[in-house]
Order: sequence, then C-alpha cells, then structure tokens
Amino acid sequence: MATKQARRGFWEAFDERVGISALKYDVPEHAQGIPYSLGGLSLVSFIILVLTGLYLAQFYSPMPEGARDSVIGILRDVRGGFFARNLHYWAANAMVLTVLLHMLRVLYTGAFKRPREFNWLIGLGLLATVLGFVFTGTVLKWDQEAMEALEHNEEIAGLLGGLGVWFSTEFTKNVPILTRLYVAHVSILPALFVLLFAVHAILIKLHGLAPSAFKSKDATTRKTAGEPSKATFLEHLVVVGLYGLIGFGVLVFLAIAVPAQLGPAPVSGVEVTKPWWMFMPMFAVENWFGISGLFWASGAIFAALAIVPVVDRSPYLSPARRRGVIWAYGLLALLLIGLGIYAKVAPAAVHLGM
Ligand code: HEM
Repeated sequence: MATKQARRGFWEAFDERVGISALKYDVPEHAQGIPYSLGGLSLVSFIILVLTGLYLAQFYSPMPEGARDSVIGILRDVRGGFFARNLHYWAANAMVLTVLLHMLRVLYTGAFKRPREFNWLIGLGLLATVLGFVFTGTVLKWDQEAMEALEHNEEIAGLLGGLGVWFSTEFTKNVPILTRLYVAHVSILPALFVLLFAVHAILIKLHGLAPSAFKSKDATTRKTAGEPSKATFLEHLVVVGLYGLIGFGVLVFLAIAVPAQLGPAPVSGVEVTKPWWMFMPMFAVENWFGISGLFWASGAIFAALAIVPVVDRSPYLSPARRRGVIWAYGLLALLLIGLGIYAKVAPAAVHLGM
C-alpha cells in the first residue's frame, strides 16, 4: 500500500515536471480495438524503423562507388546487420500497410468530418512522407531496382518543371543525387514526419476521437474531447502495445525467414525490375500511358483523397447513410488493387522516355 502510494507520488512529481500526461487523448469505449490502434501501430513501425535505421547508418556508405558494397558488407560482415536490414525492410512494409488501413478506417467511419477535415489533410501529408521514405530507401541499396527508381525520379523531375529541380542530377555537381536522397531519407523526411505527426497528435487531443459510427444511424461529428468515458488512455496504450508486440513478433519472423533482396549492380538505361507493392498500381498505369501517366494518376489519387471532406459533407457518420461515398472510394480501392495484381503478373515493360 505504502509502496503503491510512493510510486504514485513519484509518478505525479515526475509528470508535473516532464508533462507526460499532456500527450494523453480521450479514448472512448468504441476505440479499444484493432481498427483504432492502426495509427498507433504505424507509429510503432516508425520507432522500429528509426532504431534499425540508426544502426544501418553506422555502416552504410551513401556514395555511388561504395553504396551497394556497403549493403553487402552489412549483410555479411556486420554483427546483427542481416537482421537489422531485414527488420528495417519488413517494418517499412508494415508501416505502409498500417497507414493505409488506418486511412481506410477513418474514411469508413466518417472520422474526417467536421472538425477533423484539416487533420485528414495532415494525415495525407504523413502518407506522402511515408511513401517518400520507401522511394528514397529503395534507391539507397543501389542495385538495378534502385537505378530504375532513380531514373523514374529524374523523368518525373522533368515533368515538374522548375519545381522538380531538386530531384534532378543537375541541382548540384558537387554532391551525387544518391547522397542527396540519403540526406532526404535520414534527415529531411524524418523532420517532416515528426512535424506533421506533432500537429496530427495535437489535433487528435484537441478534438478527441470521433464518436462511434455504428451505435446509432444518427451519430454525427460532434466533439468527444472531454466527454466522460470508461476507457482510459493507459488502457488504450496497453491494447496498442499488445498488438504492437504481436506485430513485432511477426516482423522478427519475417526478417529471419524472408530476407529482403539485393539485386545485381545497377546498369543505367535498362528496365527489368518492378517496384514495391504499394507502387504496383501505378506501374500498370505506366505500362499504358508512360511516366507522365504515372505522374498524373498519382496526383489524381491524392486529389481524390484530399477532397473526401468536401465530397462527403453530411454530418452523419454511419456508413449506411453514406453509401454513395463508401461505394465510390471502395471501387477506387478495388481498382487500385486490381491494377496492382495485373502489374504483378504482367511482364516488366520499358517506360523510360515514354
Ligand atoms: C504515419 C502516419 C500516421 C500516424 C502515425 C497516425 C496516427 C494516428 C493516431 C495514433 C490516431 C488516433 C486514433 C487511431 O489510431 O485510429 C489518428 C487519428 C486520425 N488520423 Fe491518423 N495517423 C497517420 C496517418 C493518417 C492518414 C494517412 C490519415 C488520412 C488521410 C489520417 C487521418 C486521421 C484522422 C482524421 C484521425 C482522427 C480519427 C478519429 O477521430 O477517429 N491519419 N492518427
């Protein structure tokens, strides 16, 4: 009893000075399951990525002459290097998957509606940042897939005109583009991610989570912050922590059993590889319409997601009252999955210069 009180006293004294409880947000009863833990789980993946990435950075060389050999060195000679690289790879997959599922959960439950429209856009910024991590990460291993990704990058830079100059090799003659993409991967994108996530978290705390979309057909988007709830933030952390531990176990298994590939040394101007699964639908578009098709289709998808709060303006959360929007975005998701499957089975095509 006395120790329990002493522990509480210590926690309160610590919290008063460090302000940990300021991070808490109200967690309603309906949010204690996997659908509402997906945002937290993408954060868990991000933490694994930072820890493994810091370790890999001690042995990776971001210069074109040595990059691929340094990856081979990490796999062969560095203690724990094989495991760190593969865990990094699988955590990246997990992060993209959980972010996409989190976004679909928010879309399905109408949780982007007033007053959460701006946080929806911040979420889209986070999604773009996460995809930026995957793209720059792919180039770092400096094999054939990396070279092809980079050449696409350069053609897209051309389509962006003046805005694309940073992405082109012409930006500076002193620092190779591989090194600049490495800087983006380890400093610019993490800084952007932390900044966007801070705004995301502050808004979640301010608005509270949206009410349940399923309790009543008339549920609307009123605020939940400050409303009495039986569940607590700590219980929610335990739920996220438990799923996080299970997910971590799966990632460790995959990192040992299904290692990430490292292709042959890069040859410029050749196209024989296919991208990661999340870029696969755009690969299909590219097969038909070339790189400009990929550019415009990616822009159109982000635009379609950005206008979600404008398209679905009714105050109701229940999917049963929002059938049109659910069907429209559901069909878009199915179309993208279909395109991805098609691109996976179709032979790799030549797109550069198309
Ligand atoms: C790395 C990316 C992301 C992280 C770490 C993250 C994290 C979180 C967390 C922890 C929550 C609390 C509830 C939950 O976990 O479901 C949340 C809520 C929310 N997120 Fe995200 N998120 C990310 C990306 C996104 C994306 C891509 C979108 C949409 C485009 C989005 C939109 C929202 C909205 C609107 C809420 C409030 C939901 C509600 O009130 O029920 N987030 N996010």
